[in-house]
Amino acid sequence: MNYARVIGCGGYLPERVMPNSELEDLVDTSDDWIRTRTGIRQRHIAREDETTSEMACNAALGAIDMAGIEAGSIDLIIVATSTPDLIYPSTACLLQKRLGIRNGAAAFDVQAVCSGFIYALSIADQFIRSGTMRRALVIGADMNSRILDWTDRTTCVLFGDGAGAVILGRSDEPGIYKTLLHADGSYSEHLQVPSGVSNPTADPYIRMHGNEVFRFAVQAMDEIVDETLADTGFTRKDINWLVPHQANLRIISATVKKLGMSMDDVILTVAEHGNTSAASIPLALNTGVRDGRIRQGDTLFMEAVGGGFTWGSALIRY
Ligand code: ACO
Repeated sequence: MNYARVIGCGGYLPERVMPNSELEDLVDTSDDWIRTRTGIRQRHIAREDETTSEMACNAALGAIDMAGIEAGSIDLIIVATSTPDLIYPSTACLLQKRLGIRNGAAAFDVQAVCSGFIYALSIADQFIRSGTMRRALVIGADMNSRILDWTDRTTCVLFGDGAGAVILGRSDEPGIYKTLLHADGSYSEHLQVPSGVSNPTADPYIRMHGNEVFRFAVQAMDEIVDETLADTGFTRKDINWLVPHQANLRIISATVKKLGMSMDDVILTVAEHGNTSAASIPLALNTGVRDGRIRQGDTLFMEAVGGGFTWGSALIRY
């Protein structure tokens, strides 16, 4: 039986840190409001000349190094992003070029907003389980600062930039036990960037109905816990770490309550990173692994909700 197993992870955050105090100069907000409502203290903001593929490459190099593999042994590259460098080629192809991978590895992007990493992980898992691929580089990378309206206090305080990466290898033992993917496009107007290729004149910034997103996220995360554990033989007590999408501390707290866990069992990065969309789960994983909290054999529960709405989860043995 083939399973996909995480054999390395990496993360990258732009050098520039923007504390909440800096936002107080831009919009009518306060450090206290942002902390109380979201848990965010600061976020990282990319340089003007930085690109999503460059951030992805920095994260990938860390994961490749930890896995102890040659980049040329990767046969699948998936980048989850809503902020690609170009309309095409895909950010995954541009990353492949940066990494100097010329072995014909498949490379493509996945667009599922904040759930993008879970979607990409699930796709890579299917390829490895089926025996089609041996080794995958799975990335979440987003440069939200480019699509923020810095005069809109309801959105600009929430997001940050970054990239996270994992290498998945083929293994006889799990690995990824289960992934779940969901979407309901009827909610599309609650969180969107209205401009696009076929509608280029529309508003190019993130627009959000925060209360609707919040309500949906709490409900969806509540339901996905039982749905994920069903038929796996796992109970909530078997989960060592919750590695959630880092949008808002209050959404995460609701999932923690549902799992009967304590906040000490959560890898939390939202205070330092803000919401980095598709990057937030692999960045949190990288943080927990590199500071020694997540150890080999630990059981991890990952979950995310994003624009679409999309949502999903992954149950993993690290
Ligand atoms: N600073 C100060 N005041 C603000 C700010 C701000 N940055 N933003 C909004 N306010 C004001 C509002 O205008 C409103 O004022 P009013 O009462 O005079 O009208 C008041 O604060 C309360 O606004 P609410 O929207 O009701 O505040 P709420 O407690 O719901 O918090 C928040 C807003 C943080 C956006 C919350 O709804 C939320 O977290 N939603 C989820 C959104 C999210 O996480 N999106 C990320 C993408 S999707 C995902 O990743 C899950």
